[in-house]
Amino acid sequence: MPPPRPTRILLGVSGGIAAYKAAELIRLLRAEGVELRVVMTAAAQAFITPLSLQALAGGEVRCDLLDPRAEAGMDHIELARWAELVLVVPATADLMARLAAGLADDLLTTLILATTAPVVLAPAMNHRMWRHPATQHNAALLAARGVRLLGPAEGDQACGESGPGRLLEPAEILARILRRPQGPLAGRRALVTAGPTREPIDPVRYLSNRSSGRMGYAVAAALAGRGSRVVLVSGPTALGPPAGVERIAVETALEMQAAVLERVATCDLFVGAAAVADYRVADPAPEKLKKGAAELGLRLVRNPDILGEVAALARPPFTLGFAAETERLEEHARAKLAAKGVDMIAANRVGGETGGFEREENALLVLWRGGRRVLPLCPKPLLAESLVDLLEERFGAQAASQDP
Ligand code: C5P
Repeated sequence: MPPPRPTRILLGVSGGIAAYKAAELIRLLRAEGVELRVVMTAAAQAFITPLSLQALAGGEVRCDLLDPRAEAGMDHIELARWAELVLVVPATADLMARLAAGLADDLLTTLILATTAPVVLAPAMNHRMWRHPATQHNAALLAARGVRLLGPAEGDQACGESGPGRLLEPAEILARILRRPQGPLAGRRALVTAGPTREPIDPVRYLSNRSSGRMGYAVAAALAGRGSRVVLVSGPTALGPPAGVERIAVETALEMQAAVLERVATCDLFVGAAAVADYRVADPAPEKLKKGAAELGLRLVRNPDILGEVAALARPPFTLGFAAETERLEEHARAKLAAKGVDMIAANRVGGETGGFEREENALLVLWRGGRRVLPLCPKPLLAESLVDLLEERFGAQAASQDP
């Protein structure tokens, strides 16, 4: 189920050059009938005045934690309770660091510690500050605690440089938090595979791989957030099922294949994010193998290519596959797009510095026939949102072209 549309939003503004865009966002939110309370950090007031935001928000803007006059009205705990959503636009590197550390050294950070409402941040900063390991670590930590990050976008920056760190446009932020239920993925059925598979050698041992399942789970959660009905066929992982997603637990590639083929005919979308073992043991031993001989051979046989089978169906859903490559990323991923006959491939480099298995962040090169897009390094939940934005775009374009 898509999250309900918030009607009472606490808007935090922290101190970066993009703070002026908060004014436009306030105007858009008010036009949607959202009730707003605005809280500014000290640094935000160096970029835009509380008076400007107050005039647009139609109510008092608060800046101080220890303000006896303001606290006599709605005190900060009441304000934290009042909010149905806390949205921070822009969120600076400093604010993210303070939130990651759990500080409560001003009104905004105190409110965010005190609230039980969902917290959404729209980061904006110089691209080197965004890419810095400290900021990436803070972003991943906040995302793991359930904070949703929107953006940053990539492009020209106020400092004259270019890269990931631009604030998303206010209209884009509005669309993401007040997501209309009629987006192209709403009401669609999506099937997602995730995690590793385990191929038994004997009753206690198996062949497997290092997939954590995080990327597939994040894509399933992002699809559910767009109103899709999501079934997640998952190999063994340490993760809990995402809210609003039906999870089917499997162990082996053959079990995963059966679970997928049973359900795929009624699906509009298929996302193959599982790291399916390419081979299984031909004859798993019925009893625990005993050590004895100096050498032991295992005969392996090929597993079915689940994604390839789904894409080859007579009436296939829209298919998105992943490609983990150690070299010549684009060339190999383009070849995979054609060989498997899928609609989109999200490729990432493995074995290098920029993410992959068992990591909290990743970067992707997404390819489709006639197009490509780079999704820069960021925490997997945030990357999944950007990937699903692209999926929405391509799926929407395909659905529109098939309409009579
Ligand atoms: O061929 P390769 O394993 O590199 O392809 C990766 C993509 O194919 C991933 O999307 C993965 O989920 C899917 N796959 C599959 N079944 C297999 C092997 C891979 O669905 N047996």
